[in-house]
Amino acid sequence: MKSLYFILGFTLLLVAAVPEDAHHTSRREAMVGSQIAARGVTDPATLRAMGTVKRHLFVPEASLADAYDDRPLPIGYGQTISQPFIVAYMTEIIHPQQDHRVLEIGAGSGYQAAILAEIVRNVYTMEVIPELGRAARERLRKLGCRNAEVRIANGYDGWPEQAPFDAIVVTAAAEYIPPPLLKQLKDGGRMVIPIGSPFLVQTLMLVEKKGAQITTTQLMPVRFVPFRGSP
Ligand SMILES: C[S@@+](CC[C@H](N)C(=O)[O-])C[C@H]1O[C@@H](n2cnc3c(N)ncnc32)[C@H](O)[C@@H]1O
Repeated sequence: MKSLYFILGFTLLLVAAVPEDAHHTSRREAMVGSQIAARGVTDPATLRAMGTVKRHLFVPEASLADAYDDRPLPIGYGQTISQPFIVAYMTEIIHPQQDHRVLEIGAGSGYQAAILAEIVRNVYTMEVIPELGRAARERLRKLGCRNAEVRIANGYDGWPEQAPFDAIVVTAAAEYIPPPLLKQLKDGGRMVIPIGSPFLVQTLMLVEKKGAQITTTQLMPVRFVPFRGSP
């Protein structure tokens, strides 16, 4: 009997000794394998970034246990951190390269910006809700993410001082492509944006700019929070 208590006590000790971080790391690895790679994302840089950035540091305390689940999570102010697969898909589709400058509209928690910042040289992310923008800026600073800058403003106008961008990622659903963003996209650049009514299912679109020619490709149905302000 004594030895049974000993084994039980030892096992409990071992469980308690598994560091919190190791638990999150194994959940993150599972997320990359079963939610992202299994659904066809193959870009090694994207998979590496999704495996590196600690999503649990971007969600509110109350959602910590769900941080690596296959779904968006609330981040306050009626907004969400997107589903991990969608973040990975939108990252891969812009063909991110090490020397790229990328604009994101909709910083939210700062998670998508942190993923992009693992891959490209400069990330510029805009957030219209000041409280979220300030929290994202502080979170990215604390995590040592020095190549992502947060601006609190309406993303409809883009960030002309930092344009042109190799790629633009829009993470709120717009009724149409904001013309300033098209203008700020480099020749040869790619934009990914959910287009459609905020109250219905929208279509994730790939927009490619080649000289004066703009081509759009429908990618998949999605549900994003609405683009606030114009459009
Ligand atoms: C789905 S959430 C973004 C998730 C975010 N990318 C992340 O990784 O957590 C969409 C965000 O877009 C922001 N947003 C909506 N309209 C905007 C606009 N016109 N300009 C800038 N941000 C906007 C919302 O406030 C919200 O935080």
